Parts: sequence; C-alpha cells; structure tokens
Amino acid sequence: MVFLLVTIKYKKEKRMNNRVIAFIIAVILAIMTSYCQIADQLPSLPVPPVMEQPQVMPAQTVRIITQEQRQPQPEVVTVLQEPPILPEPPQMEEPKNAPREELTQNGVNIGLSPQVRQKVATLLNKLLSDEYVLYTKSLKYHWNVQGIVFHDFHAMFKEQYEALFDIVDLVAERARALGAPALGSLQDFSANTRLKEINGQNLSPIQMITNLLADHEAIIRTIRVDITTTAELDDQGTSNMLQDIILKHEKFAWMLRATLQK
Ligand SMILES: [Fe+2]
Repeated sequence: MVFLLVTIKYKKEKRMNNRVIAFIIAVILAIMTSYCQIADQLPSLPVPPVMEQPQVMPAQTVRIITQEQRQPQPEVVTVLQEPPILPEPPQMEEPKNAPREELTQNGVNIGLSPQVRQKVATLLNKLLSDEYVLYTKSLKYHWNVQGIVFHDFHAMFKEQYEALFDIVDLVAERARALGAPALGSLQDFSANTRLKEINGQNLSPIQMITNLLADHEAIIRTIRVDITTTAELDDQGTSNMLQDIILKHEKFAWMLRATLQK
C-alpha cells in the first residue's frame, strides 16, 4: 500500500511515466498473490485435546489430614451411605366377600370361604361315593371271576380295588381337610353315587371288564369337570389332587380296554 501511495504521489507530480507505474502495480499484485498461496499451504495448528473430567467415584471413606500432618496415623472418618428404601411387602388379600370371621369358621383359615369349602366338599363326597362303589364292584369281581382267565383277572381286579381304596381314602381325607364331614356308610354311598350297581348276577369275565371300564370312564368324565370347577374356586389343592386321581383312572381304563380288544 505504501508503494502504491508513493507511486500515485510521483504520478501526480509527473515524476514517473505510466509504464513504470504499471510495472510497480504488477509487482505488487504478484507479491500479494504469492503471499496468499503461501498462507493457504501453511499447515493448520493442531487443536489441543479436551481434557476429560476424571470420574468421581462414590467413596465411602474420606481421609481428612489434620493440621498436624506429621502424625503417623491421620484421622479417618467414615461416611455411611443411607440404606436403600426397600418396598413394602405386598399384603395378602383375603377373598372378596369373605369376612375374616367367616373364613375361620370351624377353625379352618386356609383362604377359602365356607361357601367354597362346602361346595368342594359336596363335590368330593359324590366322588367318594362313586369311588367306593367302584371299589366294592372291583372287589366283588375279584372274588367271583371264574374261567380260564381266572388267574389274570383275579390279579388285575385285586390291583385295581387296592388302588381304588387308596383313592377313597384320599378323597375322604380331602373333605375333612376342608372342614367338612366325609360320608362313611353304605347307605350314604348308595344315595350319592352316580354309578349303577349290579346286584346278584353271575357275570362273565368279559362282562365284568366291560362294566368296570364303563365305570372308570364315567368317573374320568366327572373328575375332568371337577378339576375345572375346583380351579375356578381357587382350591388348587383339590384340583391338583383330582389331576393325580384322573391319571390312575385313565391308566386302569386303558388296561381294561386293552383286555377287551382282540
Ligand atoms: Fe384276595
């Protein structure tokens, strides 16, 4: 810019011709162009890295150095963290529409209302009657079977009436566990059973098998409904017990059905 001003001054004073002025301007432009190119080629300075902030660890112990730092054992202060707030345990909800005094009726407080327990007990006593009738029928056939198949049928009927007696005992004691009485007389069993008794007939082995198979299948159909009923009443204990019993009946039904097949 200084050369340019000097040149213009000399031009005004007519101490320099036009060619010299043009030459000086060209030299100035060339110098400026070269400077710009050199500036563009200069390497850019590296950006200093950003220092990361050290993570502050939750220390439980803070060491405080007192004014007397020459002491070998500085004072140690332990900062205790506040214990976490634990959620309160859920409270057990009693069945709806079942006041506590009703649940404890007859000294039974197992989360089932007296109405539910009575309904299940009625169901169980009907099943108990069916099981006892089938037990008696199997025992009778065990005693009275005859013919060439006596030994096999005699043993098979024994296996079944022994298993049926265990089921009878299981069902009766389940009714007692619910606080209800269990039927125990032949008159009550006859009045509550849904099976058909056959009295005073000398049946053939095949007819015995046929009758027992029909009774087992009838009980299976009944228990299948009872499993759903007791589950809907939230009596999982009875429902699970019935699931075990139905398996035994289904196995015996399969054995009898296979005996009839040729
Ligand atoms: Fe026997």
